[in-house]
Amino acid sequence: GNNLAGESSGEAGRAGLREAADLLAAGKLVAFPTETVYGLGADARSTEAVEGVFAAKGRPSDNPLIVHIADRAELEKFVLDVSDADRKLMDAFWPGPLTLVLPVIPGALSPRVTAGLDTVAVRMPDHGIALALIRASGCPLAAPSANRSGRPSPTLASHVREDLDGRIDGIVDGGPAGVGVESTVVRTNAAGGATVLRPGGISAEEIGRVLGAPVRAVSADHSADIDPAAASEGSSSGAQGGEGAGGQETEGGEAMRGASSADEAPRSPGMKYTHYAPSGRLEVVLGAEEPAAETIRGLLAAARERGEKTGVLAFDEHLESYRDLADIALPLGSRRDLREAAARLYAALRRFDEEGATYMVAEGCGDEGIGSAVMNRMGKAAGGRIHRV
Ligand code: TXA
Ligand code: MG
Repeated sequence: GNNLAGESSGEAGRAGLREAADLLAAGKLVAFPTETVYGLGADARSTEAVEGVFAAKGRPSDNPLIVHIADRAELEKFVLDVSDADRKLMDAFWPGPLTLVLPVIPGALSPRVTAGLDTVAVRMPDHGIALALIRASGCPLAAPSANRSGRPSPTLASHVREDLDGRIDGIVDGGPAGVGVESTVVRTNAAGGATVLRPGGISAEEIGRVLGAPVRAVSADHSADIDPAAASEGSSSGAQGGEGAGGQETEGGEAMRGASSADEAPRSPGMKYTHYAPSGRLEVVLGAEEPAAETIRGLLAAARERGEKTGVLAFDEHLESYRDLADIALPLGSRRDLREAAARLYAALRRFDEEGATYMVAEGCGDEGIGSAVMNRMGKAAGGRIHRV
């Protein structure tokens, strides 16, 4: 991994970006910051480059990539048609954490980018370095999150290094990514409405307001609620990647879940993979503040009793009350500002792994705004183990 200077506006910064852009133009793989998480970029027109991305990440090849652009005029080169609804969303949210699924011009991009679908996911990141890099490279950049498959998405260049050093050609370090969870993936429909395929930085409510039409949320079925009576029987052994008879290991170490065939709504192929599973067992507790806090203390105490190395990820309001029950206590910020929770979640999950936590509890949050993305990612990391109290 070549370390390329990022944010600085000095000579080194410019040289770093130029070098990174040249690598990308030559079909190499370079990680770069965006306003959501770090992406691993490659020329979306080059099958060799895109195959390199899947190989570096260990990502299943049927999970398509997002193409990043810096100027809307680029769309003409690979998108067949932009509807009025799509245009409204671009006007409102680009550049920003919104990805639109659009009909692709056959042959305009590597078929590996779209995993053979007739659509392509596109976004314009709201990040100066990302935009400058895309422009300087002259490429539409296919860029999934720059983590090894099955690890939390990287919000710092050091996370990228941990996962991909030696497997990619460069990293542009731009400091911490801002939002902390990935973009919202949306597909508009003929009626002027839309379906949220993956919750993210832009909420379904915001999208609905802009469209003035109904917005459906397709949530992956990862919330197999825990029966409170049975909950205490859980142990940390072998919980990696989520339970469930339908789970099927892929080469990437991501457990694949059966698609629900009855649901004819468009789905994001990535939603069938469990992501971000920490090495230990993670459970989420969701509910009114006091009962939730009581449940969390109970779960931690029971885990201590079993000899687990315990971790807790909680809002500032209750963190102190868990400290003597947890070996590692990490803050999500205030309950009143879920943007903090989004920004801290992935780094916290990495930290638990580093510290060797075998049993962790995370405090869940409401679905308002970015809360739905936070809960979606927490639920996935927990393999669907959510206590509702
Ligand atoms: O914030 C983000 O979106 C980050 C940064 C780097 O831009 N990127 C990211 O990429 O999260 P990735 O590859 O980790 O996630 C792409 C998601 C997956 O859930 C994938 O299934 C979905 O977008 N997707 C890609 N192409 C699609 C398509 N044609 N139709 C439906 N979903 C698609
Ligand atoms: Mg990802």
